[in-house]
Amino acid sequence: MFSLRGRLVLGHVGAVLVIVGCAALAGWWQLSRSLHGQLDGALLALAEAEAGILVATHGTPVRVHDTPSGNVPSLTRLDRLIQIVDLQGRVLARSSNLANGTLPLQTALQARLAAGETVFDTLPHAGEEPLRMVSLPTVIDGRTLAVQVAGSLDDVDHTLQAAGLLFAAMAAALVLAVSGAGLLLTRGLLRAIDGLVSRARLIGDASLHERLPHQGADDEIGKLVDTLNAMLSRLESAFMVQRRFTADASHELRTPLSRLRMEIEVTLRRPRSEEYYAEALRSCLEEVLRLSGLVDQLLTLARIDAGTQEGGADTLPVAMMAQAVVGRLQPAAQERAMRIRLDIMGSAGGAGVHPALALVLTNLLDNAIKFSPPGSEVEVTVYKAGDDVMLVVDDQGPGIAPEDLPHIFDRFYRGAQARAATPGMGLGLALSRSIVHALGGSLGVDASAARGARFAARTRAVYPLQ
Ligand SMILES: Nc1ncnc2c1ncn2[C@@H]1O[C@H](COP(=O)(O)OP(=O)(O)OP(=O)(O)O)[C@@H](O)[C@H]1O
Ligand SMILES: [Mg+2]
Repeated sequence: MFSLRGRLVLGHVGAVLVIVGCAALAGWWQLSRSLHGQLDGALLALAEAEAGILVATHGTPVRVHDTPSGNVPSLTRLDRLIQIVDLQGRVLARSSNLANGTLPLQTALQARLAAGETVFDTLPHAGEEPLRMVSLPTVIDGRTLAVQVAGSLDDVDHTLQAAGLLFAAMAAALVLAVSGAGLLLTRGLLRAIDGLVSRARLIGDASLHERLPHQGADDEIGKLVDTLNAMLSRLESAFMVQRRFTADASHELRTPLSRLRMEIEVTLRRPRSEEYYAEALRSCLEEVLRLSGLVDQLLTLARIDAGTQEGGADTLPVAMMAQAVVGRLQPAAQERAMRIRLDIMGSAGGAGVHPALALVLTNLLDNAIKFSPPGSEVEVTVYKAGDDVMLVVDDQGPGIAPEDLPHIFDRFYRGAQARAATPGMGLGLALSRSIVHALGGSLGVDASAARGARFAARTRAVYPLQ
């Protein structure tokens, strides 16, 4: 219903009102108790003084001592009304300032006095002013009399009224001051958030390199800016990878497609011999096979990126998998007079690995055969490393050039030598690393190998029950 700004302001002002209101009320109540207590104490002291004289004189004569004795000025009695009554309600004596009037003595009050209780009463309409009265029972020679002393409540009421006004004014000023300070703080805070929102709105996919401004403070706003900026960095790099991949993929698809188109157009230009058509179709088939291989690889990469290709439950003994891959690539190696040696160490061969690892080993062996000189040897070693299995491929080729080393796992990257001398799309290593990562393992190249290249894949393995 309310905006964040409205809710903050309302909440703040409401809380300040409640706190300041309660504090003012508590202060006023405490003052009222203290003033009433003082008046009651003074009235009771006077009543006890009169009662003391009555007891001392055995009640003869019964009179009120409202004129000062001796020449000493006294303020104690002039503003008090005093009367002495018996419990039948007969007034036995009263102070001169009562004139012909009497202080009230109702039956209920008589009964409480008879029970020996000292009773305080407030008389709002007793005379010109509201009165407070104490009635003190006194037993004189077996007879119960009551001394009643009343004083005006006017002073107390006026003081309380003035204090009430003062408290209310102070509370209002306090509420205004604290609310004003809160409003300023809230406005500053929300202005910073508004600034961030309008800057964030301006950042689109064309300006993902931009960042939100940081005020330098390590507060909640600073943390929010840091978090949003870190998110922007992640988005930017993901976006860049995606953009480069799309550009590279379309480029790689365009080249074989235009070759295919040229081949077909040239063939169809005029009638050809049967052999020509057969040769042209064979060449087209080669191109189509290359294309479908590329599309397969791109699809696998896209699935891995989307997280739909992951380590499943089915596993394959690593020895069986490696032997099958080596067997498949043996003809290609023999074509170049090369030999592939497979070395499965200890009990590692029984470890179960994900079937997708066959594609990784195929890519590594394909590279080793492709980039090594004829007559050289490729060695595949399988061994256990803790609970994991290592697959290592060593060749005797040129190794990885230092300038290529940081890039060989990038999609579509091919070294200068590779581009010049061998076919390929630069996807094999990128795809292999994505597969191994999706399976929770790692794939790296050992640049320090003395001769040739050494690629090592580490992957999780399941071991058969002994
Ligand atoms: N065993 C190796 N010896 C020397 N260079 C290698 C070796 N393996 C990979 N490289 C370098 O790394 C680059 C990337 O390899 P990758 O397997 O990704 O692509 P490719 O083999 O060129 O093409 P594709 O695998 O798509 O057919 C290669 O072009 C090459 O420059
Ligand atoms: Mg390759």
